[in-house]
Amino acid sequence: MNNIHLYHLLCYTEYTILGVTRDEGARMELKPDNGEGIDSWKEVTLIYNAALRQIQTRMEILNEEFQHVHRYNPIEHIKSRIKTPESIVKKLKRNGYESTIENMVKYINDIAGIRVICSFTSDIYRIVAMIAEQRDIKVIAVKDYITFPKASGYKSYHMIVTVPVYLSDRTVDAKVEIQIRTVAMDFWASLEHKIHYKFEGDAPEHIKSELVECAKMVSDLDARMLSLNEEILAISRKMNKD
Ligand code: GTP
Ligand code: MG
Repeated sequence: MNNIHLYHLLCYTEYTILGVTRDEGARMELKPDNGEGIDSWKEVTLIYNAALRQIQTRMEILNEEFQHVHRYNPIEHIKSRIKTPESIVKKLKRNGYESTIENMVKYINDIAGIRVICSFTSDIYRIVAMIAEQRDIKVIAVKDYITFPKASGYKSYHMIVTVPVYLSDRTVDAKVEIQIRTVAMDFWASLEHKIHYKFEGDAPEHIKSELVECAKMVSDLDARMLSLNEEILAISRKMNKD
């Protein structure tokens, strides 16, 4: 790609996506460099979108296969998103990095993010194991906020994985953040996220403690629904035998 073409792409990025004036934009300009073979914002979008689609399809296939073998769907639904350039630039800044393509590829693990929502806590570990078994998906890091919830009450299982994206002349390993949680955990996290934003991270104490209380209720609900489901499964197995 020639430099003029690249320059236009980057300017275009500043204006349309960062939504700032030319002066401010100049300071946030994504500098051309070689971020692990990815050299423009257009390529970043293309590669991470492809990675996201791949992971989403793999999840859907695993879900269908599981339904076929076990007559049961571990996945309720899947949501995915690409991080906006504004929040990529903000995160780089927060972590003390210059806004370059190389830095975003290297240091931002959640440019491509997918959220897998399931019914029961046991499904979460089932999905984790199925992802880890996929030969070309590499698990780089995991955070088990189910076993070790955050002080806020947040529960979810996080994985950072890479998936190969096959381009016409090379293969790029792209990082994807996978968050796996139950419907109830997702309900809690959505509300907590809204509150967090509304108060810019500084919510009144009574709201924070109410959220911690609600998180306990969510855990209790998840545990009761799981044991109810197990009881139902045991009954239907027995009925099928008789
Ligand atoms: P970020 O810089 O926010 O990406 O966090 P991190 O790199 O320290 O990673 P972590 O695994 O803690 O969080 C990644 C993502 O999980 C966040 O971007 C949120 O989507 C979600 N998350 C983490 N903690 C909370 C929380 O307390 N409440 C909610 N609602 N979501 C959270
Ligand atoms: Mg994030």
